[in-house]
Amino acid sequence: MSYIARDDRPADKAERYAEVEAEILAVLDGETNLTAKMATVSSMLSDAFPAFFWTGFYVVDPLKENELVVGPYQGTLGCLRIPFSRGVCGAAAREGKTQLVEDVHAFPGHIACDSRSESEIVVPVFDANRKLIAVLDVDATEKAAFDTIDQQWLERLMARVFADT
Ligand code: SME
Repeated sequence: MSYIARDDRPADKAERYAEVEAEILAVLDGETNLTAKMATVSSMLSDAFPAFFWTGFYVVDPLKENELVVGPYQGTLGCLRIPFSRGVCGAAAREGKTQLVEDVHAFPGHIACDSRSESEIVVPVFDANRKLIAVLDVDATEKAAFDTIDQQWLERLMARVFADT
């Protein structure tokens, strides 16, 4: 299947999520490789939402307890490793809950991989046994760029793409 980047996406955020979700699921139909899934999700979300400044995954390191290691992403250079005890990604991994952060500077222990990030959403990613395998991290250069619409759609997308893993 070929994919052409487009600039005629719906202005409404929920409609845009619905459209890109359908495209991601079509591209990934039958694909089981985790890296291929994460790379595709990062690329297509980043392309669909110009406000997404950094879009990607931190994967639970199987060799180190309670530590995330960077996975596929789109954006400027990300930190390589994040312990569960630190930052927004660490909180999402530790609690197994989405973190919606309107102002990253107000979040205790926030890790500034790129000082231009002002707000972010981090969604935990689970496998078929509800075991945490990664987190999806999306950063924006505007404050309060994310809301519960982003949360609902990104949580649903993570479930649809990774729950058969
Ligand atoms: N802001 C994140 C770190 C990851 S990067 O921004 C790519 C955090 O505090 O977990």
